[in-house]
Amino acid sequence: MCGIVGYTGPREAYPIIIKGLKRLEYRGYDSTGVALQNGGLKVYKKKGKVAELEDAIVGKDLHAHVGIGHTRWATHGEPSDRNAHPHQSASGKLAMIHNGIIENYNQLKQELINKGYTFHSDTDTEVLLNFIEEIRNNNQCDLEEAVRVALKRVTGAYVILLLDEDKPDTIIAARKGSPLVIGVGKGEHFLGSDASPMLEYTKEVVYVNDYELAIITPDQLILKNLGNEKITPYVQKLDLELAAIEKGGYDHFMLKEIFEQPQTIYDCLRGRLDAEAGTITMSGIQQYAEQIMNANRIVMIACGTSWHAGLVAEYIFEELCRINVEVEYASEFRYRNPVISKGDVIIAISQSGETADTLVAIENAKSKGAIILGVVNVVGSSIARTSHAGAYTHAGPEIGVASTKAFTAQLAVLTMIALKIGYIKGSISQDRYMHLLKELNEVPEKVAWTLKHSDNIKKLAEKYKDAHDFLYLGRGYNFPVALEGALKLKEISYIHAEGYPAAEMKHGPIALVDENLPVVFVATKDTYHEKVVSNMQEIKARKGKVISVITEGDELSASLSNDVMIVPEADEIVAPMLSVVPLQLLAYYIGVAKQLDVDKPRNLAKSVTVE
Ligand code: G6P
Repeated sequence: MCGIVGYTGPREAYPIIIKGLKRLEYRGYDSTGVALQNGGLKVYKKKGKVAELEDAIVGKDLHAHVGIGHTRWATHGEPSDRNAHPHQSASGKLAMIHNGIIENYNQLKQELINKGYTFHSDTDTEVLLNFIEEIRNNNQCDLEEAVRVALKRVTGAYVILLLDEDKPDTIIAARKGSPLVIGVGKGEHFLGSDASPMLEYTKEVVYVNDYELAIITPDQLILKNLGNEKITPYVQKLDLELAAIEKGGYDHFMLKEIFEQPQTIYDCLRGRLDAEAGTITMSGIQQYAEQIMNANRIVMIACGTSWHAGLVAEYIFEELCRINVEVEYASEFRYRNPVISKGDVIIAISQSGETADTLVAIENAKSKGAIILGVVNVVGSSIARTSHAGAYTHAGPEIGVASTKAFTAQLAVLTMIALKIGYIKGSISQDRYMHLLKELNEVPEKVAWTLKHSDNIKKLAEKYKDAHDFLYLGRGYNFPVALEGALKLKEISYIHAEGYPAAEMKHGPIALVDENLPVVFVATKDTYHEKVVSNMQEIKARKGKVISVITEGDELSASLSNDVMIVPEADEIVAPMLSVVPLQLLAYYIGVAKQLDVDKPRNLAKSVTVE
């Protein structure tokens, strides 16, 4: 949450910062601000999205070669101009942006108020900034030393970027818990919450680690720990093209990402799955195969959509590997003193690889001896780096705030892991194994088929867009898909939606059913199909509107439904990768029909780096 950008070098800083902030808006868009070194510090900031700031400062002298910029997801203090970053210190000499939360800010604020400081915002950031300035004044030290001293007193998470009016070519940056990437150019440096702001300028990047501080000038990047010891920056080559973070002719990133799924699932399987030879190559998993096979239990830890992928995986792992699986919300797991034994296997699932709760939950489990496997999309992210091993999902950058292609890629990876372990363990027959490899291999083309047969979904969106509530029902592998469908609708259209196991509906939600309630059944042909059909009849009998995701040719389900969305026949283990696609589209088209900003739904952010 919150995006940060910085630049120091010979180019004009402002356009680089603004373009970078637009790419980072998925991290929050409550307010935007920039600070530029332009014969003194110039700070411009405004409530709202990046474009609103741009419009507001047309005509100003924005010339500068050094600057920082911020797009905010509000934590402390409402979204407003005064709470927007950058903040300036009491002397006006320092400007700072921050992504994270300073947990002990109240105590620090009190200390500063006692010393006569006044505050112009409600943020924890302004407190930290003045705390740094107070240390600098009091200890008569340089800014770098003051930052180090201050950060030793701070609890919480942060990435900070600081400008000092008296050192106009320097940016000071520090990180704990929130992401920071530094792009290394020739005589210039770029900073970002991820690599997207620097993509067209350099492919050489340094991922800054926790408790590291960077002093950056156009020609130099000095990295130190909080003990003031120098660290050699580890420069990595980015494997990411500009086209991957652009809309490519689609109206929204979300639609582009939904339509990319045949390719992203293919990319995820490519080089790993050989359906002919009957092999799955995943070196990270292979390395820990013995431990996974013999684990007493596997705990999947995740948040949001990734948590839903974990739920689908629970069914798959228990079926194919016969290992006890639990799926945990990271935020609950980390605070409840869970019983972790040495040798437990944790699978952390995360698109961004930066979700604060997931990160801390796995670090806790790791400290108790658990093996951590990461199923992560963003290469080089914190979760990827803290895991013992794992597998990247290779879905490419996901920019729409609502997760789509990351979900199906997570399912593809998790299914491969389960198949691999089940096969080595012998808990799955050779025939079933070979059959499932073939089924998995066919998923990209079946997703493409589903997308081709989705024309009617736009019409359904028009028909149902004014509903106040939706119920999503499914059983077995499709129950988590129902949860995911409901989540997508909530996120994008702001319509209240609940996902439920189809049978549980009788224990409460059925009381909601009347002629106004659309009930979406995820009812593809599987072991539970007849039961789901009975549930459909129960809804129909109460005049609910039945919308179903059904397997092509399923006349019975079609006859019970007011409207259908079709997917091709597939084994139930891989079916969620298909059945979720129409639900993604339904949410998307309803959001569009309601004229909402589907890529940036209100109050949400994509990378949740606060707990
Ligand atoms: C946020 C995003 C969701 C995502 C969740 C977990 O809520 O809006 O789309 O599923 O975080 O994020 P992660 O990056 O860990 O998968």
